[in-house]
Amino acid sequence: MSILVTGGAGFIGANLVTRWLRSHSETIVNLDKLTYAGNLASLVEVAGDPNHKFVHGDICDANLLGDLLRSHRIRAVVHLAAESHVDRSIHGPENFIRTNVTGTFRLLEAARGYWETLAGRDREEFRFINVSTDEVFGSLDADDPPFTERSLYQPNSPYSASKAAADHLARSYFHTYGVPIITTHCSNNYGPRQFPEKLIPVLLLNGMRGESLPVYGDGGNIRDWLYVDDHCDALRRILEDGVPGETYNIGGNCEMANIDLVRSVCELLDEVRANSASVPHVDLVEFVSDRPGHDRRYAIDASKIREHLDWQPHENFESGLRKTVNWYLENDEWLAQVTSGEYRNWMETNYGLRAKTS
Ligand code: NAD
Ligand code: DAU
Repeated sequence: MSILVTGGAGFIGANLVTRWLRSHSETIVNLDKLTYAGNLASLVEVAGDPNHKFVHGDICDANLLGDLLRSHRIRAVVHLAAESHVDRSIHGPENFIRTNVTGTFRLLEAARGYWETLAGRDREEFRFINVSTDEVFGSLDADDPPFTERSLYQPNSPYSASKAAADHLARSYFHTYGVPIITTHCSNNYGPRQFPEKLIPVLLLNGMRGESLPVYGDGGNIRDWLYVDDHCDALRRILEDGVPGETYNIGGNCEMANIDLVRSVCELLDEVRANSASVPHVDLVEFVSDRPGHDRRYAIDASKIREHLDWQPHENFESGLRKTVNWYLENDEWLAQVTSGEYRNWMETNYGLRAKTS
């Protein structure tokens, strides 16, 4: 039997697949549409691995999903495929509805049809992990307690609203049909192979090129950062021992205001690129007009997964950031590949019209 990972050529997916195949002998079927965010260059380490079956396809393709589930005798689905960038969802929400809502629906339907044909232990042990986000819970004020699994859904962007819709469908497939589904809510990930549209890789790439470091609004928005390998390990634990119908929050207990994070990245760049003409990198910081509807603060209470599944992050922000910076410095070919073509259009769309505010 095998595991179906969707979106396995994206940031978290490529790290998950690569990490999984290093320590497991089970086959991974990796279904990815290869949008701008999906990249086979992120999977070079597993390119020749006979346990890695890459399938170029769309989660909206119901026939393909049914075929894959049956022909590979899938025992678990780890559903990561999504449109994942908030700013893109503001510029063009439609793709988010198509992939995150319709795509998740098609995958749930295919999984239900397949799961209903299983018997005995295969049926009992089947799992569907719906990888969601903390953003479905909306925005916290400075003195609010962190999000728990019982926090209300209050999504504020087209992205988080589309993920919330997917979560509701997933919940209904457990309650109505009994499909063994678990939903996870993770905070902001960072690490190798993240497309340079998200904050940390934008800072690293622009910093390495001596270009401005755009900070939205006043830089006081807070995120809770988690190194990507720690997220992947949490998903593995949930696959092993998570309880169907439950939801699990995953977070790094590492809240930071954006401007403080930007300063940390600049200091590290000053250290590892001491001869660069851009030292001190902090001089590249430029405050720009804010993201519409910008959530002020996310923070995760991860006590449930810690207590029930004995999971906790291994990296702290300093060690994780150092690993990340080193990876970007050592992988200029990957960077050159992902920053050709579509990337340039996006930088113009997102940053071209933003007013400088300092
Ligand atoms: P990503 O944008 O880097 O990767 C998404 C992948 O999905 C890409 O490889 C893309 O080609 C693929 N994809 C998109 N549409 C598809 C479709 N219709 N069919 C098949 N494949 C398709 O995203 P990521 O940062 O790796 O996030 C993965 C998942 O984790 C998403 O569901 C996201 O909502 C969730 N998540 C991300 C974070 C984070 O900080 N990155 C935090 C919490 C949750
Ligand atoms: O919380 C989990 C979510 O984290 C995931 O569900 C999303 O898929 C992922 O993209 C991420 O969402 P954010 O919007 O928090 O991440 P992003 O890296 O886009 O932005 C992080 C913070 O930095 C946010 O407050 C906006 C700000 N920012 C972002 C960019 C790209 C800037 O100030 N400047 C920038 O150029």
